[in-house]
Amino acid sequence: MGKIVWNETLSVGIALIDEQHKTWIERLNALAAAINTNAAQAQVAETLGFLVEYTGFHFSSEQKAMQAHNYPGYAEHLQKHEALKATLAELVKDFEEEGATQSLANAVNTFLGNWLIKHIQQVDQKFGAFVREKGIVIAGQG
Ligand SMILES: [Fe+2]
Ligand SMILES: [Fe+2]
Repeated sequence: MGKIVWNETLSVGIALIDEQHKTWIERLNALAAAINTNAAQAQVAETLGFLVEYTGFHFSSEQKAMQAHNYPGYAEHLQKHEALKATLAELVKDFEEEGATQSLANAVNTFLGNWLIKHIQQVDQKFGAFVREKGIVIAGQG
């Protein structure tokens, strides 16, 4: 997969969440660029760290919004976030032990981008539809 570019098919209709998804994509692209150009280990570590940190921040923003509005799909959505966080933790562990291997490159170049697109279109957009249907306004923490 090439560089991921956010487009309207990825919109969930909630500005706060769309902006966070754009930032998430930027961070994934930065990590992919570091790995694919064989950047120094420290730079891969840093971009990987930024992605992990932002993933935690973004997931918890979505989770807070879902909980605040008693979203019925919360438990299922949470489980998907937790699964990706566990996968990222594995990638970090592998990176710390073995460096930027081909399997890390594959995960970054293919798996993470595919996961994000599928998650936004199949899971986040369901929450977006719920928010629209209920006329809820989601504001807050940029
Ligand atoms: Fe999301
Ligand atoms: Fe999500």
